[in-house]
Amino acid sequence: MNAEETTRTFLGFFEERGHQVIEGSSLVPPGDGPVLFTAAGMHPLTPYLDGGPPHPQGRRLTGLQRCLRTTDLDEVGDERHLTVFQMLGSWSLGDYDGPQSLRWGFELITKILGNERVRLHATVFGGDDQVGPDLASQRTWDELGVPVEFLTDDNWWSNGPTGPCGPDSELFVWTGDGPPQGSPGTDERWMELWNHVTMRFRRPGDGRLEPLSQPNVDTGMGLERLLMVTQGVPSVFQTDVFQPWMSVLPGLWGPGQKELRLIADHLRASIVIIGDGVRPSNTGRGYVLRRLLRRVLTVLWRTDNSKSLGDLPVTLIEHTLARFGQHTDPELIREILKDEERRFAVLMTRGRKVLGRFGPGWQPTPEELSYLHQTHGLPPDLVTDLLTEEGETSESVVGQ
Ligand code: ALA
Repeated sequence: MNAEETTRTFLGFFEERGHQVIEGSSLVPPGDGPVLFTAAGMHPLTPYLDGGPPHPQGRRLTGLQRCLRTTDLDEVGDERHLTVFQMLGSWSLGDYDGPQSLRWGFELITKILGNERVRLHATVFGGDDQVGPDLASQRTWDELGVPVEFLTDDNWWSNGPTGPCGPDSELFVWTGDGPPQGSPGTDERWMELWNHVTMRFRRPGDGRLEPLSQPNVDTGMGLERLLMVTQGVPSVFQTDVFQPWMSVLPGLWGPGQKELRLIADHLRASIVIIGDGVRPSNTGRGYVLRRLLRRVLTVLWRTDNSKSLGDLPVTLIEHTLARFGQHTDPELIREILKDEERRFAVLMTRGRKVLGRFGPGWQPTPEELSYLHQTHGLPPDLVTDLLTEEGETSESVVGQ
């Protein structure tokens, strides 16, 4: 099943069970809230989960939402972490309960996995000093014949320090070779696939938990991870959504496997961020975009500084925009990428010149970092990158 078919199967399953499909929203949340980017499918639904007005489409919803997570940035390049991804979700706004959601989740996953259901494992909230263990979920998994383990820190879900939250039951799938071993808490080859949060509480911000006016269920599953399972491939980068990227980039820039994944992930994320109206800048969302592009350029230029984002085929931009349902002009996106590349090239040249005045092995103090930023426009992370680059160059010169 390709991405389209898998999405249709998921949404259709919930439609048959009385859910309305909601339109995905922008990565940029409305208003002036503290959250820079939408990081979970539930985020646009926060007012409806948190005792606000009834949702115009009812109490059972399903949908596909684009999400961005910078918390996973250092993991990008492994088999399963992405900066921008699509999350399939289902919601009960004060309607059915958590065990019902788990039963439907199990039914759908086993429909997709067929007789490979032995590859499943669940985890449930083990309890803490405020909320007891999630025995209802544990009993449900037992009835369904899925092995289950209690964990505490990983099984409490919230979208931030304040707002709606609750115990979370997670379904894992075995991705190792051979029969499953251990449990999600002991073996990383268990991949987290689908989270079911029984969203019953709100954190006002002073450490307390208050009950929500209605108990909700919020579920989320990364589409790309589900595709790994449905397409039987060992990484998200081998699924059909990455296929055009992974077939074009090696011939274009020839990077190694890990670099290839980072470049594909970050460029794809940058396109989607720009598609939602963000432009590179030195603060907030624009700075996240700038950092992503600079990471790409740093990797590209490590071997050859004539490589240019201007060579990125417009078909890859178009493919990405279509996948995320965005309608921005692809040529405009390419111009923004090229403009950012020009600025970064100027900054790198200036940075190397300024840092060249200090001796080899120099480690700047916080005051010196601040001076470089204020006086020469060199952000601390760029200085760190340049010093790392210098260290690597002198090591390779010594090694020759
Ligand atoms: N909100 C939950 C998550 O993002 C479902 O994992």
